[in-house]
Amino acid sequence: MLKPVFALLALFVTLLSPQQPPATPAPIPPEAVALVNPVKPTPASQAFAKKMYGYDCAMCHGTTGDGKGDLAADIKPPLKDFTDPASLKDRTDGELFYIIQNGRGTMQGEGERLKTDAVWNMVLLVRSFAKK
Ligand code: HEC
Repeated sequence: MLKPVFALLALFVTLLSPQQPPATPAPIPPEAVALVNPVKPTPASQAFAKKMYGYDCAMCHGTTGDGKGDLAADIKPPLKDFTDPASLKDRTDGELFYIIQNGRGTMQGEGERLKTDAVWNMVLLVRSFAKK
């Protein structure tokens, strides 16, 4: 008699529990890896990227990109230090664009929040953290 109720409850619990991101992020499609940055940065577009980075990224990746934002301590494995030129040297701009737009692991992507040009500016900003 009560069985359908329990079955329904179980279904709701399953539907409502947060989805765990997969341990190994899905591979980035080759056509995305090969994308070349079409955008020329301007002081204004980089200032905008920096502002959005401060809102959406710095709490994890750190204001300077060192991977030591306020939330970083709880993130495993530890975030990369973007100020170290070695950190992103094996990533293409296309990969960075894809990750910033779509997210990766526990990182949420910008999705619709940023226009394509703004995401490319974000790629340039992230790259610039290493130029010291
Ligand atoms: C909630 C914390 C969090 C926020 C906010 C966040 N990230 Fe991330 N980011 C991560 C984690 C965790 C990874 C590593 C995922 C993995 O590769 O397993 C990552 C990976 C990356 C990578 C790829 C590093 C690599 O080579 O593996 C880039 C680039 C990046 N983030 C940039 C950004 C930018 C730009 C923003 C803001 C738009 C941002 N992230 C917001 C947590 C975050």
